[in-house]
Parts: sequence; C-alpha cells; structure tokens
Amino acid sequence: MVAVARGARTLPSGVKPETDTPPTAPEALRSPLAAIDANLGAYIDSLGLTPSLDDAVRYALLGGGKRVRPVLAWWSGVAVGGAGEATLPAGCAIELVHAFSLVHDDLPAMDDDDLRRGQPTLHVRSGEAMAILAGDAMLALAFGALRRAPGGALGALTDELLVGTNAMICGQIYDTLGGLDASLSDAAKLEAIHRSKTGALIRAACRMGGMLGGGDDDAIGRLTSYGEAIGLMFQIVDDLLDVEACHTRTGKRTGKDADAGKLTYPGVMGVDGARGEVARLGQEARAALTVFGERGSALSDLAAYLERRGT
Ligand code: IPE
Ligand code: IPE
Ligand code: MG
Ligand code: MG
Ligand code: MG
Repeated sequence: MVAVARGARTLPSGVKPETDTPPTAPEALRSPLAAIDANLGAYIDSLGLTPSLDDAVRYALLGGGKRVRPVLAWWSGVAVGGAGEATLPAGCAIELVHAFSLVHDDLPAMDDDDLRRGQPTLHVRSGEAMAILAGDAMLALAFGALRRAPGGALGALTDELLVGTNAMICGQIYDTLGGLDASLSDAAKLEAIHRSKTGALIRAACRMGGMLGGGDDDAIGRLTSYGEAIGLMFQIVDDLLDVEACHTRTGKRTGKDADAGKLTYPGVMGVDGARGEVARLGQEARAALTVFGERGSALSDLAAYLERRGT
C-alpha cells in the first residue's frame, strides 16, 4: 500500500494555514444519518456481490462521507409533507452515483489523488482495475436501488437519476478535458462546469426527495431552485477548501486545483469574490424555501451549514 501521510502540501503564497475549528454539523445533517447508513448497508448486504467487489464497494460507499445528498433528499421529502424514510431509495441511489463519481474522479487519468475521506483512495488501496470496476458496479447498482421505491414513482425517479448522472459526467469531461465553447468567458465556463459536475446530483437529490415525499409541481419547482443554488455553492466551497484548508481537515489533498490548472471560483474571482458568491447563493437557496414554512427549516439549516462547512 502506498503511504498516504506524505505531509501537507505547501499552501499558495499569501494563504495562511487554518487554525480555527471546523463548524459543527447541525442536527439536520446528523439526525437522519443512522437510517441512511443502515439503508445503504442493507442494500449492499442484499446483493451478494463477489467478495473482492463487495469489499471495494463497501470501502468506497460506506467508509466515511458526509451523506449530504441523501440528507438533502430526506429533508426535501419532509419539506413537502412526507416522511424522511420514504426518500431512502433515492438517497441510496444518489449516494451510489456520488461514490462512483469520487472513485473515478481520483483515478490517475483524472485528478490522480491518493487520499479521500482521510484514507487511501480506492485505486491506491485495491488497484486501478478494481477502482474502475467498482465504479462501474456502483453506477449500475444505483439504478437497482431505485427499484425499492413505490412502482408509480419509478419512471420519473429513473429519469431524474439519469439526467443528474449524465450532467455530472459531462461536467467531469469539461473539467478534465475541456471542450466548452471557446467564446465563453472563464466565469461562464466555470459556472457551467460546477453546475454540471456537482450541482446536478444535488439538484436531483432535492427533486427526488420531493417526489417521494409526494410534492406537487410547484413544491418540486421550489426544491429545484433550492437544489440548484446549494449545488453550485457546494462546489464553490469545495474550491475554497482546496485553497484554504489542509488535508487533515478535508481528508483529501489540498492545493491541487491550481497545480492542475483547473478553473475554480477562487482562481477566477479571488477568494473574497468566491465567498461573496457563496453568500449570495445561500440567500437564494433559503429564499426558495419560504413556501414550506417550518417544514423547510432543516433545509434552511443545511444551507447555512454548507456555506461554511469545513470538510
Ligand atoms: C466531494 O463531495 C466532491 C464534490 C462534489 C465536491 P462531498 O464533499 O460530498 O464528499 P463526501 O461524500 O462527503 O466525502
Ligand atoms: C468533483 O470535483 C466532482 C465530481 C463529480 C466527483 P473535485 O475533483 O473538486 O472533487 P474533490 O475535491 O476531488 O472531492
Ligand atoms: Mg475532479
Ligand atoms: Mg477531485
Ligand atoms: Mg475539489
């Protein structure tokens, strides 16, 4: 196994190493976790995967992670008057796509990372072939997980997962290989990349949670606006953490985006500009929730937390 604790990377000049403690996750992020993790584990248990694949999938899916997307699905269901438990098939499916995206994102052909969630990345631990194959499996298993949703919702949920996954992959293509219209400004390219590579699955989590909670078209529209705002915000914060945080906090190597020549919000509009955009999107997200009243309070708390998360 490759040693992963090779020490923190040097921060870019002018950036101070962090000394503050990361904000504590709110109750809204913590309270559904036991149910979400039990559901993910039970689904993998039910599959009887071949042992080496079972081991790799469990490592990538169950070994850490904030579960932001299943939690968003949960509270989106609650916001429209449903039960959080009803959203578990959607949360499980999206977390599988997300875990697949991270395994492939870390591969040498992509971001070439050796640390994820404070542990060796899957290809470092189990080899590149297994990382590719486990990613393939998780994508297929995600669509299988949706089949545990009520039959009437299956078609619409499948469409949502397909749209979100396809957008994530397109975003990864633009982020890794380029290909966006050359006449676009860097800021426009960046927004398109981030809305696709990260925003689309977060948007899908909110919409699918709302569907399983029984939301009508108007409610799903509000959740879509909320999901789009926090989806973009989430990746801007990820960009900021890459500049400002160290690997002991994020559980992944930092300072890498600039080294790789990636388009990022702090790179294009500066750290203060990026923070301003995060604050603007946080407000936009919360404004979309007013129609839900008290039932939207957990989503509102999550938006506030995701603005200043530390991992
Ligand atoms: C990391 O996502 C990749 C991005 C889309 C920015 P998360 O920060 O949600 O990763 P985990 O699942 O909590 O490790
Ligand atoms: C990841 O973006 C987006 C995905 C679709 C996986 P990053 O490459 O910035 O995510 P991290 O920083 O490796 O988690
Ligand atoms: Mg990447
Ligand atoms: Mg990456
Ligand atoms: Mg990143």
